[in-house]
Amino acid sequence: MKLRYFSHSAFQMTTDNGKVILIDPFLDNNPTSPVKSDSVKADYIILSHAHGDHLGDTVKIAKRCSSTAICVDELANYLEAKGLNVHNMHIGGSYGFDFGRVKFTIAHHGSKTPDGEYAGEPAGIIISSGGKNIYHAGDTGLFYDMKLIGERYKIDYMLLPIGDNYTMDIYDAVKAVEYVNPAVAVPMHYNTFPVIKADPNVFKQKLEALGKKCKVMQYGEEIEV
Ligand code: NI
Ligand code: MN
Repeated sequence: MKLRYFSHSAFQMTTDNGKVILIDPFLDNNPTSPVKSDSVKADYIILSHAHGDHLGDTVKIAKRCSSTAICVDELANYLEAKGLNVHNMHIGGSYGFDFGRVKFTIAHHGSKTPDGEYAGEPAGIIISSGGKNIYHAGDTGLFYDMKLIGERYKIDYMLLPIGDNYTMDIYDAVKAVEYVNPAVAVPMHYNTFPVIKADPNVFKQKLEALGKKCKVMQYGEEIEV
């Protein structure tokens, strides 16, 4: 499976059977993304929550590519009313798709649509495909139940926010990595805007001092996971 980082919390996964999945595709209004929405493809779009910097260009991309949006029920209903194909899920539940399995976890944050509608609870996302488990923590503060995720899943890549203000800062994100114990931690949700300025190399150094692996992905970079 391939994992590409666009910046902020936006990633693209290409599974071994060739399915393309976007997570939180905030591209066109994202000052740090090297890629805009008209140049991406998606079979599926998985959303952590409905804030504009995560919902992003979902409607535009999904209409052009006939993608299926996978998200919590309330947000799925909103997107279905906009004409999208959706798969409604909710926190604690998982479902097997043709690319692998998706489970939604808790995330401590908020969520509402750009139209101001209630969009259900924000979520974290665990994607299992090709024998790998990727945990995208969404926007969240630190929570102790992350330990339960690490107990149940051998997480290969944990994608987690470090930018502070709206989410965990670097100190809390290091704790989160200790709780989940992934093979590799990847920082996200930083430096997109001045208010979430953070140095990912400080995060990396703190983790390495604890014997943990961290990959700081460049904007646009794609890696094999
Ligand atoms: Ni948010
Ligand atoms: Mn956000």
